This record gives sequence, structure tokens and C-alpha cells, in this order.
Amino acid sequence: MSALPHPAPLSGASYSAVELAPAGDRVILLDQRRLPGEERYLELAEPNDVARAVSAMVVRGAPAIGIAAAYALALGARRTGITLEALEELGRELARARPTAVNLAWAVELMLGVARASPNDERADRLAHQARAIHRADVAGNRRLGALGAERVQDGATVLTHCNAGALATGGYGTALGVIRAARDAGKRLRVVADETRPWLQGARLTAWELMRDGIEVELVADAAAGSLFAGGSIDLVVIGADRIAANGDVANKIGSYSVACLARLHERPFYVAAPFSTVDLACASGAEIPIEERSPEEVTRLAGVDLAPAGARARNPAFDVTPARLVTAIFTERGVVEPVGAAGLAGLARELSEA
Ligand code: MRU
Repeated sequence: MSALPHPAPLSGASYSAVELAPAGDRVILLDQRRLPGEERYLELAEPNDVARAVSAMVVRGAPAIGIAAAYALALGARRTGITLEALEELGRELARARPTAVNLAWAVELMLGVARASPNDERADRLAHQARAIHRADVAGNRRLGALGAERVQDGATVLTHCNAGALATGGYGTALGVIRAARDAGKRLRVVADETRPWLQGARLTAWELMRDGIEVELVADAAAGSLFAGGSIDLVVIGADRIAANGDVANKIGSYSVACLARLHERPFYVAAPFSTVDLACASGAEIPIEERSPEEVTRLAGVDLAPAGARARNPAFDVTPARLVTAIFTERGVVEPVGAAGLAGLARELSEA
């Protein structure tokens, strides 16, 4: 399946990382492994295939994989005679698919809570409804946090971003790229510098693709170029996404984010993190407790089927790193801005949530 068949993406964009078919019987995923060369959608009718697609990075980015998992559970709930235990096992399989992004486990827990509270004959409908609500809330939340973050982007700024925290990584608007979109929509002129983001090249393959599609000026650099750009005064601010934010404000995000944070601090530039509140994990006291996914060394030693290293070369591939809270200037969430970044600010927003 190549072009997005139907329905129009829930976000209103012209493409979508993840959708549920109108009949609720298939999860539609844009195969991000093929971008930028080919815009190809997969239609999956088996919930376990969605779990495999998450591990294989067909769909990636913390909020997008949470939405995909919610849709997979909605799909599972349609199975004739499926038990709550079987849905819970599916939930565990989905949550294991990528361990660092807490949005995945968060969405699974939310869906299983609805499943537990639903009569058998209403479970499938209620889960489809809940999954679509998660997707819709993600888009609305991204727009809100994007608008809050855009206030910190000055007219004419050059913004460095790392990995892809855009429409492709979310329900369809973006967190870090949501800030950039909102700044542009507020009439600010800006340029984006995108780290290519080895080894998976999310910056080169995905961020450049979606910003160019939106007509936002973007320049791609090798990851190693960032230092000299800061030193030359070319970067005004940094905005990245997050896979998990600990209770003390430590931020896990794509490998290489920590190096960028160190450069931003050294060169006295703000380092902003944009994320929905579902990325905050108050059960994790600090970044030291965040599980860091180790992916196959082959993603480092081979690229597009070509060997980049001698046969037998050993390699390590931690997919994420942790930036300590003290290096983060502010966190933009849909509930408000956390600044200074630390336990008090995050707990304050969580309290507002529970009192609302
Ligand atoms: O391995 P990926 O591509 O899933 O990593 C994605 C990131 O690190 C993103 O910055 C993060 O998930 C935030 S997406 C809004």
C-alpha cells in the first residue's frame, strides 16, 4: 500500500505516522524506514504485527509509538472471544517493544484500564474510542506546547534540533518541530539546523523531509559539526523532544542529545525540551533509573546494506542518552512551561492535573 488511502489524517496534515482505519480493523503505519525515498503505508490487521513494527522502527518517536500501541490494543479487543488476560499479554508485548519511551507503557496502561472497566460486549468500541482520544489529545497538546515554546523563539533565530520530534514522531504535529511550526505560524522568520542523527539518521531522513515539505528552511549537518557551529555563533537556541523525563527533570532522548546540551551550556545558548506530559515519569526519581534501549550493533556497522566497518568489528548502540536537568533551560508541555527544571516544577504540573 503506498499512498495514505483513508481517512484523511486525524491531525489534518497531508501524511500521518499512524492512523486507525475507519472500520477499526487495521492500523495504518507510514513505513518510516523507507523515507525519504518512498512514502509507503502498511496496513496491519494483526496486533502483534504492530508490536513488531514498533521494534523494527516502521513507526518511531515516543508519542507515535504510544498511539500505535493504543490502536493495536483496540484491534486486539475486536477478536471474538478475546479475554482480558490475552489483552494484558498483548499490552506487555507492546510495552517491551521499545523500553525507553514511557509514552508506550503509559498508553498501554491507559487502554488496559479502560478494558478492565468495560463490559465484554462494549470493550472493542470503548477501546477504539479511547485510542482515537489519545491520538486527538496528542495533536491538541502538541499545538498547545508548540505555542508556549514559540514564545521563546526570537524572530530571525537559528534553531538546532536533534533526531526527529515532528509530525512523524507524534500524532501529527510535533513537539520540538511543533515549537518550530508554531513560531513560523506566528510570523517569525527562522532557520533550522538539523543534526543528521547517526546511526538511524532521523534528522537527515525525517526532519529534513517534513520541514522541507512544510516550506521551513532547514540545513542538515553531520552530528560532529554542531560544536563548530556553536563556536562560530551560528546557533541561537536548541529545541529537542524527549522519550522520558524523570521526576527530577533529567531527560532521556535520542543518543547525542546530551552532547548538544553540553555544547549549548558552554556557549550560553538555551537548551529547550518539548514534550507532552505523558512523557513525564514521576515514578522514575532520576535519569539513572531510565532504562536505555540498546539496539543492534549492526545499525552502527552497516548502512543500507553496506558495511561501514571491517567484518567482525565490535560496536555498541545505545539508542538514547540522559541530559541532566541542570543543563535544560525549560521544558515545554501542554500543561505549562517548567522553568527552572526540577522536581518542584514537574510535581506542580502533575498536581494541577490531579486537581483538575
Ligand atoms: O529512536 P526514535 O526515532 O524513536 O527516537 C525518537 C526520539 O528520540 C525523539 O526525540 C523522541 O521520541 C521525541 S518524539 C516527539
